[in-house]
Amino acid sequence: MLASSLLFAAALVNAKTAQVLLKPDTTSNLGANVTGTITLEQPDKDTQIKITLNIAGLAPASTHGWHVHNLAVPASQNCTASGPHFNPMNKTHGAPEDEIRHYGDLGNFVTDADGKATVTVTDRLLSLFGEAPVNALNRGFVIHQNKDDLGKGNTTLSSTTGNAGARLACGNIVEVTNSTGGSTTTVPAVTSTQGYVATTQASYPSAKPSTTGYGSISSAITASAALSLAVTFAVFVL
Ligand SMILES: *[C@@H]1O[C@H](CO)[C@@H](O)[C@H](O)[C@H]1NC(C)=O
Ligand SMILES: *[C@@H]1O[C@H](CO)[C@@H](O)[C@H](O)[C@H]1NC(C)=O
Ligand SMILES: *[C@@H]1O[C@H](CO)[C@@H](O)[C@H](O)[C@H]1NC(C)=O
Ligand SMILES: *[C@@H]1O[C@H](CO)[C@@H](O)[C@H](O)[C@H]1NC(C)=O
Ligand SMILES: *[C@@H]1O[C@H](CO)[C@@H](O)[C@H](O)[C@H]1NC(C)=O
Repeated sequence: MLASSLLFAAALVNAKTAQVLLKPDTTSNLGANVTGTITLEQPDKDTQIKITLNIAGLAPASTHGWHVHNLAVPASQNCTASGPHFNPMNKTHGAPEDEIRHYGDLGNFVTDADGKATVTVTDRLLSLFGEAPVNALNRGFVIHQNKDDLGKGNTTLSSTTGNAGARLACGNIVEVTNSTGGSTTTVPAVTSTQGYVATTQASYPSAKPSTTGYGSISSAITASAALSLAVTFAVFVL
């Protein structure tokens, strides 16, 4: 009983949740109607991340590439400023299931007849844990206009972008921790070493977007409240 309670508490303490508030790219009007959120949940560093996309305002029955990009999106919502795909190992672009791929490669999703999509995937490379070169926190998430060819196309762009076209909407992967919106995690700025293409990254928490409009932030807070309770309980039992 004691041991299992402590294990339960430890698991919750390690868990990380992050959210993305998707907003239209302001340098084009191509995604002007897009609204959405992405929730990223990871119980601990050794468990695959779960990523849930909720998006609306796209063309009906359309296919869109979606990726984590290297840099945080600036407040101006210039999605292009998030740089290339998040690619800390300097690999060629691929499909999520490929061995050779970017960390940020998540393939495609398809919208319904209303231009909406709800998608949940797990991923073996993206992580909310670890040092800046491999940590996805505070980087940009981009929704593209076109289908990602998964590196299998015959255009020059295929091996870098999947030829997925313009950036319709984007937002930052921001950790959600507790009711004050605070975070205990500081991700250091990315520097231009080790093969990932980055010179600067907006440092946390300056990259943090407004929490206004977060559809499901309350559930994340509830999870954190459970965490606090679990910690209290563990201490009490000790
Ligand atoms: C946004 O929605 C309006 C109203 O349905 C439509 O006229 C317009 O073409 C849409 N814009 C884009 C970029 O999809
Ligand atoms: C958007 O960002 C890109 C890449 O940093 C830059 O080249 C471009 O000038 C920016 N556009 C605007 C309107 O600021
Ligand atoms: C390149 O791909 C396009 C579209 O799939 C196809 O129509 C075209 O024939 C291909 N070109 C070559 C040289 O393979
Ligand atoms: C919430 O996070 C902030 C920033 O890390 C921290 O100072 C504060 O103590 C936390 N509050 C709770 C109730 O955990
Ligand atoms: C990344 O890979 C490309 C092609 O494999 C290579 O030309 C380039 O030098 C590599 N960059 C770094 C920083 O390792």
